[in-house]
Formats: sequence, C-alpha cells, structure tokens
Amino acid sequence: MTSLTLVSNLTKSLPAVGGKDRPRIGKRVFWNMFQAEASRQGLEFKITAENEKIIYTILRYFLLLEDFNAYGILKNRASLQKGLLVYGDYGVGKSTLFNIIHEVGKTIILKTNISQLWFPKITTVNMLTRYYDSQKDPTSDFKLENYYRGKLYLDDLGKEDKAYNREELIGKLLFERHRRRLKTFVTTNEKPSAIAERYGNHIGDRLPEMFNIIKWEGRSWRE
Ligand SMILES: Nc1ncnc2c1ncn2[C@@H]1O[C@H](COP(=O)(O)OP(=O)(O)OP(=O)(O)O)[C@@H](O)[C@H]1O
Ligand SMILES: [Mg+2]
Repeated sequence: MTSLTLVSNLTKSLPAVGGKDRPRIGKRVFWNMFQAEASRQGLEFKITAENEKIIYTILRYFLLLEDFNAYGILKNRASLQKGLLVYGDYGVGKSTLFNIIHEVGKTIILKTNISQLWFPKITTVNMLTRYYDSQKDPTSDFKLENYYRGKLYLDDLGKEDKAYNREELIGKLLFERHRRRLKTFVTTNEKPSAIAERYGNHIGDRLPEMFNIIKWEGRSWRE
C-alpha cells in the first residue's frame, strides 16, 4: 500500500471534524510519507541519539499532539497555538527536516484537501531579492502583505542583507505576523538574543509568545 492510499484510507475512517488544524493525520501515515519523501529526495535520513528528540518533538508538533514537548526540550512554554523557532548549529538538518515536512504537507493537501501539514516556504534571502526586484519592476506582483496570512516557513533568518538605513523587512514581517497571531516556522543559526539585537527589542520581546523555541546543536552532516 502506498502512503497516499494510507492517507485516503485514514481520512475516510475519520469523522468530519471541520475547521482548521484538527489532528487528522495519524502518526504512522505521516512517518511513512516522511520516509518516502526523504528517499524521493535521494536522502538517507538518519535519526541519531543527537537529533532524535528534536526531530520527534517537531514531528509531534505537526501531528498536533498536545504533549508534543514530552521530551522537555523546549526553551519556553510549549503551545500548539504558537509557531516554531529552531535555531542552532550549521548543517544539523534544520532546513532538510522542514523541507521534507513541507513536501509531505503539499502532497497531503493536494490529495485530500487536509491543510494540517501545509505551509509555504521561502528563505529570507529570496524574500529580499524578490522585494528589491519588485521595486524595480512595476509589473511585479510581489507584496510583503501577501505574507501576512496563513502559515509560513522562513528559512535562514538573519542571513539576508542588513537593511542599513532601510527598514528591516523580515523584522516587519515577523511583527505583522505576530500581530495577526499567525503560525510562523523559522530556522536560523541566530540565537534569540541575536535576533532581538538585529530586529529590535520589540521583536525579541515577542519571540517567546510567537514561537516554541528549540535549540538544535550537533555535528554538521556536511563534514
Ligand atoms: N538526518 C539526516 N541524516 C542524514 N543526512 C542529513 C540529515 N539531515 C541533514 N542531512 C544532510 O546534511 C546536510 C545539511 O543539512 P541542512 O542543510 O538541513 O542543515 P541546516 O541545519 O539547515 O544547516 P544551516 O544552519 O547551515 O542552514 C544536507 O546535505 C542534508 O542532506
Ligand atoms: Mg539550513
């Protein structure tokens, strides 16, 4: 049985709960799809003693398990109403993990209309490039406001160019998304204090209520 058949079998047997963000995707289906997506990407995705608690906590969060922080690894109060801020060492697998979940979420929403695991993704560098291109191109349809809705995965926070005397675009985006209580997923090498320093204390102060904060340390897979 393919993982997709598993998904449709599973959803058929579930009552229609309606609304958004109800746990409609089961653990086993998700895990099968996760592994299928990793191998589709040609990845031998390894779970090790170093990364297992972090990976399982993040997967449990996306499965909407109230006790997703059972391993107690969060830096602040756990809540399914908040997004995720995952910061730490280079090459530990942050982007890889979120990219796999992003692809699984896309497959699920396309096949079953269940949006539980769906979120668009963009790197901060790409967002700035698109923003600056749009300033020069009057026909561009890029608007920062387009990102003031729904969920969003922002990769490489802090890697984008400094705004110098211009406004910090990503700081503004985080501020607006916090104001609208939207779930944002961030991966970054910057620790929360460095994020606060760059984008300002008004952002730093909002991080704990906007995000479940996870520190991911370890050896780089790139070595
Ligand atoms: N669990 C894993 N098992 C095996 N290889 C992995 C695993 N996670 C990531 N990798 C590989 O390690 C490399 C680095 O991973 P990734 O880019 O996700 O790291 P990162 O934490 O996002 O790093 P950075 O902080 O530099 O952005 C990738 O080539 C990826 O294929
Ligand atoms: Mg990365």
